[in-house]
Amino acid sequence: MAVLPIIEYPHTVLRRRAKRVRLIDRRVQRLADDMVETLRSARGVGLAANQVGALQRVIVIQLPDEAGARVYVNPKIVHREGYREVEEGCLSIPGYMARITRSLWIRAKGLDRRSGTFHFRADGLLAQALEHEIDHLNGILYIDHLKSHQKLVELEPEPDLRQAAAVAGWRPHVLAHDPPD
Ligand code: NI
Repeated sequence: MAVLPIIEYPHTVLRRRAKRVRLIDRRVQRLADDMVETLRSARGVGLAANQVGALQRVIVIQLPDEAGARVYVNPKIVHREGYREVEEGCLSIPGYMARITRSLWIRAKGLDRRSGTFHFRADGLLAQALEHEIDHLNGILYIDHLKSHQKLVELEPEPDLRQAAAVAGWRPHVLAHDPPD
């Protein structure tokens, strides 16, 4: 397994539509393993193959309260219900977050890494992660969902980075002065 470089906005691969996986072969298994390692190393919740430069419909999700990462191939949202505001960020847009609108719950289906089919209802963080990662496979980023009252906020660097920045004479700032709520 390997930690892969995460491609950052505005790289064009993030705007392309990933292709359907026809066969979950060793190459796809390897991609999934590398994506899980990359996601864990970045301490993220989800990662789509576009973000590591592979235009295949593969996503991985690591929920904070679960031991193992979820791997989904050709995932699809077949039903969405309701709306809620959530805080969201993306490993390809580091240092920013925003409050956007996501579904209250969804139904998703597709394949797991053993080519078994899944079809389940999800809410909470899992639903949000599925919507976010499946968007990636379609070339959509969370910033595309920002409405006029929802602003992108630059996060303050981690305390240790802040200290390093102070030494370098650099001060963090917030782009949008309105808090997200
Ligand atoms: Ni993302």
